[in-house]
Amino acid sequence: MSMILRGNWNYPTTIWAGPGRIAELGKACASAGIKRPLIVTDEGLVGAPMIKSALAALKDAALFGAVRGNPALSHVEAGLRAYRAGGHDGVVAFGGGSALDAGKVVAFMSGQTRPLWDFEDIGDWWTRADPAGIAPVVAVPTTAGTGSEVGRAGVILNEETHQKKIIFHPQMMPRIVILDAELTVGLPRAVTAATGIDAFVHCFEAFCAPGFHPLADGIALEGMRLIRRFLPRACADGQDIEARAQMLAAASMGATAFQKGLGGVHAIAHPVGSWFNTHHGLTNAVILPYVMRFNRPAIADKTDIIARVLDLPARGFEGFFAWVMELRRELGIPHSLAEINVSADKAAIIGREAAMDPSAGGNPIPVDAAQLERIFRAAVEGRIEAVDRAT
Ligand SMILES: [Fe+2]
Repeated sequence: MSMILRGNWNYPTTIWAGPGRIAELGKACASAGIKRPLIVTDEGLVGAPMIKSALAALKDAALFGAVRGNPALSHVEAGLRAYRAGGHDGVVAFGGGSALDAGKVVAFMSGQTRPLWDFEDIGDWWTRADPAGIAPVVAVPTTAGTGSEVGRAGVILNEETHQKKIIFHPQMMPRIVILDAELTVGLPRAVTAATGIDAFVHCFEAFCAPGFHPLADGIALEGMRLIRRFLPRACADGQDIEARAQMLAAASMGATAFQKGLGGVHAIAHPVGSWFNTHHGLTNAVILPYVMRFNRPAIADKTDIIARVLDLPARGFEGFFAWVMELRRELGIPHSLAEINVSADKAAIIGREAAMDPSAGGNPIPVDAAQLERIFRAAVEGRIEAVDRAT
């Protein structure tokens, strides 16, 4: 089986896919020109056998394992201190979305003189960076969701303003990615579900984002088809290596596709994560149907295409919507944000910051702060019908 799940791809970057390919980590570092890697990982993975093996396999490597969920500037600064103290020349970003984002941003910042927030994804701010000061990254995802391993940005929390900022530079794209499904078999069911739906939302929002981008649309559709087939399998049996391998591919496809844009789900999920420290994938999974109903007038044709490609029992927007609701139930995703301890008392701020989030620009219907606040309130209360009326 592992033969058919193995492949070397060259877009959007060099990807080595296949169970067991973490054995090629040393070769990947050498190919990326890294002699003294700093391994950046999540604090929950520090003692894991896979990290110990990586450390043992890489000569002159050191470990930075103090990255938490929703990584903040303080994590990046601590990583940079470790990077400079160890005289490193590249980063192995190894873990979930938080470790990948933090590791990429550490490598990006390693040779910059301006402060991090100067490189927020606004206009051409990325051109402020010195490209010669960007260190190479080898990325090894251990969840199938974020797709950050093939992304050119990292999301970092500004703890002073409670805002998640997207730090962007084209050279933040990792040089080499290892997609090894064996690294994801130990993921608990709930994390598998939440991260898997994040990948689905990447594909879905990219496909529905306005603009001419047939490459992204094609990748997004196939990503959704794979997730429909394999996410329930990966959740039912975490050891199902085929399901795990297909989900890793689908996660990379989601992030490849969302170069086209995202939408209201991510626009709202970012400030919710900033203020309530919720899990990003889980937050998206809860919010998804509320934004879908709000966008319904603009996505009827597109959701019908998705329903056909996914071969759903019922077609059109309603067929697709019913399937999303069923998938959410089957995977144990809560219906309201209140169930994950998000309250409406910051609704006005959430609406305002969602409107400012770069993802909002990809929503199929232009949305303002008041509309995003209304969607957020409906999601807190679990009242989808409240969004329907708003359209
Ligand atoms: Fe996401």
